[in-house]
Amino acid sequence: MEEGLRRAAELLSSSRQAVALTGAGVSTESGIPDFRSPGGLWSRYDPSEFATLSSFLRDPVRFYQLASEFLSVFTAEPNEGHRALAELEEMGLLKAVITQNVDGLHQAAGSKRVVELHGNLRECRCLSCGTVLPIEVLAEKLVQRGEIPPRCGCGGLLKPNVILFGESLPAEALREAFELVSRCDLLLVAGSSLMVSPANFLPPMAVEAGAELLIVNEEPTPMDAFASVVLRGKTGKVLPELVRRVKEIR
Ligand code: APR
Repeated sequence: MEEGLRRAAELLSSSRQAVALTGAGVSTESGIPDFRSPGGLWSRYDPSEFATLSSFLRDPVRFYQLASEFLSVFTAEPNEGHRALAELEEMGLLKAVITQNVDGLHQAAGSKRVVELHGNLRECRCLSCGTVLPIEVLAEKLVQRGEIPPRCGCGGLLKPNVILFGESLPAEALREAFELVSRCDLLLVAGSSLMVSPANFLPPMAVEAGAELLIVNEEPTPMDAFASVVLRGKTGKVLPELVRRVKEIR
């Protein structure tokens, strides 16, 4: 780890266009379960039954019954890993965070440029009239009034603005992510299994463009072999240590 941290800090401090790509692993230390770690959400729920657009439309009641298990996301606080990435942006060393997460914790930690590939939990939308409402409206219907599934005033079904399997990703976010990665000279992947596309196209794209690839993850990923440095550990510990070493070098 020592040598890896030294090398990673060197690469990061000499980069000019570094970008981060994060996954659910950066939020587990904030109390939000990830998906594919042992005990992660997909070890307890079948995503094909719970997290696809068709399953949502087929049985919105079941979706919302299970979704009430994840309400912790609304009270979660950013952790040291989120704050370390915000600090790298503040230092002018990180251009943006591209995230697969919908918890808004990067923004809460102070990151300014955050590209949300899988939507967000700040808003919901009516599938009939298209009205966009703050998520609080949906939460109030669900939690206070026990309205399952929560509906719009027009009677249409309300859906949180998170991207479910089978839904297309927000075009603008995807365009911005591809543009950032095609121009980056370093991609820092943190807390992602890199199992889901198109997010997992980004690391190969970065390597293809000649960028250095740094991976911070508790478990191996399919891109480890292509990384300049792999740091095996918790993002809440490794990322702040990385920032500390970058500060020593600068
Ligand atoms: N520090 C470092 N790594 C961690 C930590 C941590 N504290 N906690 C978990 N991890 C690692 C796990 O080992 C795992 O490899 O983070 C990775 C999380 O992987 P996933 O659970 O697959 O999450 P993610 O890569 O974000 O999934 C992508 O899949 O289900 C969809 O839409 C969902 O956005 C999600 C997408």
